[in-house]
Amino acid sequence: METVVSGIRSTGHLHLGNYFGAIRNFIQMQHEHQCYFFIADLHALTTHPKPEDFRQSVRKVLVEYLAAGLDPEACTLYIQSDLPQIPELYLLLNMYAYVGELERCTSFKEKIRKHPDNINAGLLTYPVLMAADIIIHKATKVPVGKDQEQHLEMARNFVNRFNHLYQTEYFPEPHAYNFGKELVKVPGLDGSGKMGKSEGEGNAIFLVDEPEVIRKKVMRAVTDTGPGNPGQEMSEPVANLFNLLSLVSTKDTVDYFKEQHDKAIIRYGDLKKQLAEDIIMFTAPIREKVREISANDDYLEQVIALGGLKARESAARTLKEVRAIIGFTN
Ligand code: ADP
Ligand code: TRP
Repeated sequence: METVVSGIRSTGHLHLGNYFGAIRNFIQMQHEHQCYFFIADLHALTTHPKPEDFRQSVRKVLVEYLAAGLDPEACTLYIQSDLPQIPELYLLLNMYAYVGELERCTSFKEKIRKHPDNINAGLLTYPVLMAADIIIHKATKVPVGKDQEQHLEMARNFVNRFNHLYQTEYFPEPHAYNFGKELVKVPGLDGSGKMGKSEGEGNAIFLVDEPEVIRKKVMRAVTDTGPGNPGQEMSEPVANLFNLLSLVSTKDTVDYFKEQHDKAIIRYGDLKKQLAEDIIMFTAPIREKVREISANDDYLEQVIALGGLKARESAARTLKEVRAIIGFTN
């Protein structure tokens, strides 16, 4: 049995990218491993949310985690900011993280490009906080999407530096994990890149989107001018639609449309209709559970209180040992 940690930032509703990149693994791993899954509310602060929106976002992610199939009896489910040990470990880890490597981090460079008006130090040290989240439970496996690969590499660097400096093997190396071996990158509907909530209107399909919204978004998805000649290679936006189809449809359906594309007789409208209906079918049970669970405040409070308790126990153990290794006197 291994120790598993992962989290999702509380910046809004969960989308299909979150589901297939991360949550699908959470559900599968929770019964086989010691799992800690959390809502990354500290990470969400980099964009300065209003307190009321902030509170609502945390609640949304909690409800959607549970609706998607996280079982609070099988895994430890908590809110990041409920563990005071995480910011303390984050501070300590900052001593082993070099400014140069943080500045070279792809996600940081992207944030600078997109938000030149808000390049705060929290963004720079985002990977350090993420490493603290992971090693506070001495995790070895971290189920995440492809975009998080570099952050995991940085976490391994911090761990190895710490171990080397103190001549210990205290922290194990954490590795990104996906049960299908390859890390997943779910494309967005706008023709390129990845699905994400900050990528612009219509790019992401949220688990709670109503059928009409899903149909509208999918029908508006970018394609190309036509399949061209028989056997011609797929353009990127069309390949993205097939990629999405393969996540929510049967193999027969995917094969059928692939053949149509191959013969250059495909009608993108038909492909989109099928994709929309299959997404609707896939997400319907989750939407149903969201309605059920979100009415039950007592249950939500119970879940988060118990999860916090269990997670703090594990975190406190690690922090105590780390303090001893560093040389603090108690
Ligand atoms: P977002 O990118 O929408 O802001 P987060 O950054 O909070 O979402 O991501 C939470 C988890 O979901 C991470 O493990 C991340 O890798 C995964 N994830 C997000 N978008 C995608 C995607 N398009 N494909 C695969 N995984 C994704
Ligand atoms: N950085 C991750 C993201 O944006 C979220 C996250 C924060 C995380 N801490 C983590 C993921 C620890 C895995 C483990 O998607």
